Amino acid sequence: MTTMAERDVRIYEVGPRDGLQNEATPIPTEAKLRFVELLADAGLREIEATSFVSPRAVPQLADADDLMSALERRHGVRYPVLVPNERGLQRAEAAGVDAVCVFTAASEAFTRANINMTVAESIDAFRPVVARAREAGWWSRGYVSTAFGCPYQGLVGEAAVVGVGLQLLELGVEELSIGDTIGVATPGDVRRVVGALLDAGIPPGTLAMHFHDTRGTALANVSAALDLGIRCFDASTGGTGGCPYAPGAAGNLATEDLVYLLDREGLTHGVDLDAVVVAAHHVSETLGRPLTTKVGQAGGWRVP
Ligand code: HMG
Ligand code: MG
Repeated sequence: MTTMAERDVRIYEVGPRDGLQNEATPIPTEAKLRFVELLADAGLREIEATSFVSPRAVPQLADADDLMSALERRHGVRYPVLVPNERGLQRAEAAGVDAVCVFTAASEAFTRANINMTVAESIDAFRPVVARAREAGWWSRGYVSTAFGCPYQGLVGEAAVVGVGLQLLELGVEELSIGDTIGVATPGDVRRVVGALLDAGIPPGTLAMHFHDTRGTALANVSAALDLGIRCFDASTGGTGGCPYAPGAAGNLATEDLVYLLDREGLTHGVDLDAVVVAAHHVSETLGRPLTTKVGQAGGWRVP
C-alpha cells in the first residue's frame, strides 16, 4: 500500500458524508461504519466521514457523535468531518476528530439557504473552528460551493470564488475544495475558475476539485483540472450525493469512475478499483437501489 506522498493524485472520498447526507430514509450507523471500513480497505486514505451540523438541517447525519465515537481509526487514514460553527466544534472535539472542514459558498443565496448566514458571517463563524484546528494540529479544509453556478442566483463569477477562497486561506485552512455543487460546469468553466485561482497566487497543491456529475461532465472537468496541475479530487463511491439545500444537485463524481480514468491515464492514487466497486455495492444494497455508475456496472477493463 502506497503512502499519500507517493501518489500522483489524491482521491478524497466524500461518500459517507456528501453521498449519504441527502438520503431521506435513515441509514443505520452500523451500515455507515461498514462503508467507511470498505473504503479504507480499498486504499482510500482520506474519507470524509460525517458532519457535525444541526440535526434538523441534515437529519441523516444526526448520528455523527455515535459514528465518530465508534469508528476505529486506521493508521494513515484521515477522517475529516464538516463543522459549521462552535457548537459543531465542541461536538467534533468530544468525538476525537483531527481533521475538520468548514464550508461556505461563492454565492450569497446558497450560503443563506445552506447555513443561514451571509458569506461574511460564515467566515466569522469559522474563525474559532480553524483557530482551534491550528492550535490542536488538526488538518483543515475550506469548501467554496457554487463556484460554477448557484441554484438560486444562476451564474457565479470567478472573482467571487477567488475572493471567498482567499478569505478561507487567510483563516488558516490548509486546502480549498472548489465545488460544482449542482453539476453545471464544463471544461471551459474549469479553466476559467481554476485559472483565476492560480492567477491569484494560490498554488495548485492547495486546491481540490469537487465535481457533481449531474449532467455527466465530471470526468471531462477532472481532465481539464489535471491539465492545470490540480492533483486532488473529491469523489463518492457509488456515485451518491447531493445537498439538501441545492435543488437539482445529483450524485457526486463516482469514485469508481475516477479511479478507472486515473488508472488508464497512468496516474497513481493507491486505490483498488475492484475493492471500490465492492464498497459501491454495499452502498446500493444499503440504499435498496441498483448501482447506476458507469464503472460500477461495467467493471474495469480486463484486457484480453
Ligand atoms: P441556524 O438554525 O441558523 O442555527 O442553523 P442556530 O445557531 O440558530 O441554531 C438552531 C438550532 O440548531 C439550535 O438548537 C442549535 O443548538 C442547533 P435549538 O436550540 O433550536 O434546539 N445547532 C446545532 N446542533 C448540532 N450541531 C451544530 C449545531 N449548530 C446549531 N453544529 C446551521 C445554522 C449552520 C447550524 C445550520 O444551517 C446547519 O447545520 N447547516 C448545515 C447544512 C449542511 O450540512 N449542508 C450540506 C453540507 S454543504 C454541501 O453539501 C456542499 C459540499 O458538498 C460542496 C459542494 O458540493 O459544493 C460541501
Ligand atoms: Mg457536494
